Amino acid sequence: MTTSERSLVLVKPDGFKRGLTGEVLRRIEAKGYRLVALEIRTPTRDLLARHYAEHEGKPFYETLLGFMSSGPVTAIVIEGDQCIAGFRSLAGATDPTKALPGTIRGDLGRDWGMGSTENVVHGSDSPESAAREMAIWFPDLSAG
Ligand code: RTP
Ligand code: MG
Repeated sequence: MTTSERSLVLVKPDGFKRGLTGEVLRRIEAKGYRLVALEIRTPTRDLLARHYAEHEGKPFYETLLGFMSSGPVTAIVIEGDQCIAGFRSLAGATDPTKALPGTIRGDLGRDWGMGSTENVVHGSDSPESAAREMAIWFPDLSAG
């Protein structure tokens, strides 16, 4: 039985601006996940409101949408055995100060807290989230 699945990864505006897209792609490929789709774009507020619907009303929501719409991101669909949980492990904890060394956020992220939601990458947190997010970012992508 195959457990291959897909996940939606974003190199957020801080990571893109710092030229870390290649470093994130390197870690994804070194882990053995395949790249299925990749696009650079500056997300609209409308797209981000759909992507982050679960966070609407939270204290960091406006800061998050402002940050995420501040410049280009690299949107990536990856594929591989258990890649949803696997990429979350590669990414590390949400707060980059607490993320362990060896993880993307632990190695590459820093400032955080009041007024900062920067942590280099996003990764889907469940198969349901992955399907929902891929439909938002890559509506034309086939399921295959
Ligand atoms: P992501 O969705 O981006 O992969 O991150 P995550 O699951 O680890 O974290 P989540 O709870 O889903 O939060 C989404 C994003 O909101 C920003 N955030 N900032 N400053 C804060 O207290 C705070 N809390 C959340 C981060 O950009 C986080 O990745
Ligand atoms: Mg999340």
